[in-house]
Amino acid sequence: MVRLIKAKEVDSTNEWIKNHLSRLKDLDSFIADTQNSGKGRNSKNWFSPKGGLWLSILLEDFSGNDGALSLLCATAVCEVLEENKLLANIKWPNDIILKGKKLGGILIEKVQEKFVVGIGLNLNLSRSDFPIPLKDVVITSKEVLHNDLDLEVIAKEIIKKIARGRNTLDEVHRKYLKLSGDLNEKVSINDGKETFAGKVTTIQPDGGIKIKNEDTERVFYSGRLSYLS
Ligand code: BTN
Repeated sequence: MVRLIKAKEVDSTNEWIKNHLSRLKDLDSFIADTQNSGKGRNSKNWFSPKGGLWLSILLEDFSGNDGALSLLCATAVCEVLEENKLLANIKWPNDIILKGKKLGGILIEKVQEKFVVGIGLNLNLSRSDFPIPLKDVVITSKEVLHNDLDLEVIAKEIIKKIARGRNTLDEVHRKYLKLSGDLNEKVSINDGKETFAGKVTTIQPDGGIKIKNEDTERVFYSGRLSYLS
């Protein structure tokens, strides 16, 4: 049974889980209508108006590494979207891309050997809900489907898929590769120390992305990925 706790407004659903850890158990989850300090990856803010899905899940029981969890969560989200007629793909490590624009993202944090999986999806929103800098980079489910999705149903399906996928990580990896929009793409990656450019050859089961150029092949476990063409 999935326990989904709901609120109208919080700072961040990830923060809420982290602040209530002692009272929560594996798979307990939290959604809020809005977040006033939503957090994105790389210390960015995450714009979270009413209508989107702002969900955090506590995972106490996960035996893989952080990278494998990232693949699992992105794959679970895309599968649930596909069941709802949204054919999204994944930009490494876990951006959810629809028609070349960002439909959502995932922020995974680790506290006391437990994982907090934060999922943000621009679902029942209009492009006009977003401030100007975001308008050109985001997409919403409503633009494609022209109707609203049931946020609670979607949240529960995602939680269930993540829970089940924990026991089938090899299969999850195969599915991730099918959903990846990165394979064979010319990219550059910046991991904070250097920028490396080349073609993506694969994404490994441990979440590392393999990039090859004329000189060498490298594996990165973190960094910002940009497409070059
Ligand atoms: C990204 O930068 O792509 C990741 C965005 C993750 C946003 C979600 S919304 C629910 C959860 N709570 C947060 O504060 N962030 C994550």
